[in-house]
Amino acid sequence: MILKALSFGTLAVLFSLIFIGGYVSATGVGLSCPDWPLCPQGLMPHEDFIIEYIHRTVAATTGLLVLVTTGFVLKSRQVPRGMKLASIIAAGAVVGQITLGAVVIVERLHAVLVTTHLGLGMVLFSMVLMTTIYAFKMRPQGKAVETSQPA
Ligand code: HEM
Repeated sequence: MILKALSFGTLAVLFSLIFIGGYVSATGVGLSCPDWPLCPQGLMPHEDFIIEYIHRTVAATTGLLVLVTTGFVLKSRQVPRGMKLASIIAAGAVVGQITLGAVVIVERLHAVLVTTHLGLGMVLFSMVLMTTIYAFKMRPQGKAVETSQPA
């Protein structure tokens, strides 16, 4: 039950983050917080950089959620191997994505880096989606439901 709630919650927050990232890019406010990790007023939001502030805050929340989900998946007995693999890749991708976000800022929105940021975001989304699907297919004891018919 906890894995269903956690993975689905993580997926929903990540989905919102991808929207916010697209909005940051489309409105051209990617450098409104020119430093990393904090915006000009530290932890205080301000209307001058609110969109980028929200992107970073939701990214930090997403990072935490993905890592906590991975922790639960690895701790749970009898989760399918594919679920473990997907959540480990998701953990690596979220750490990579947040690091890449910092590099995007330092390199002043270099096109290749921004494109890679989008691509890695898709990998991350796919892995969290897979983890969520596995969680919803699990029986209460933790065994995934077998979908293929025996020959
Ligand atoms: C899990 C973490 C993150 C995800 C999934 C994510 C996702 C995205 C996505 C989908 C975009 C839109 C890209 C495009 O339309 O080409 C974007 C843009 C952006 N992200 Fe992130 N992001 C994350 C973390 C971060 C962090 C930590 C930072 C900076 C500290 C950051 C900085 C940026 C910037 C500056 C842009 C706009 C680039 C531009 O102006 O074109 N991101 N992000």
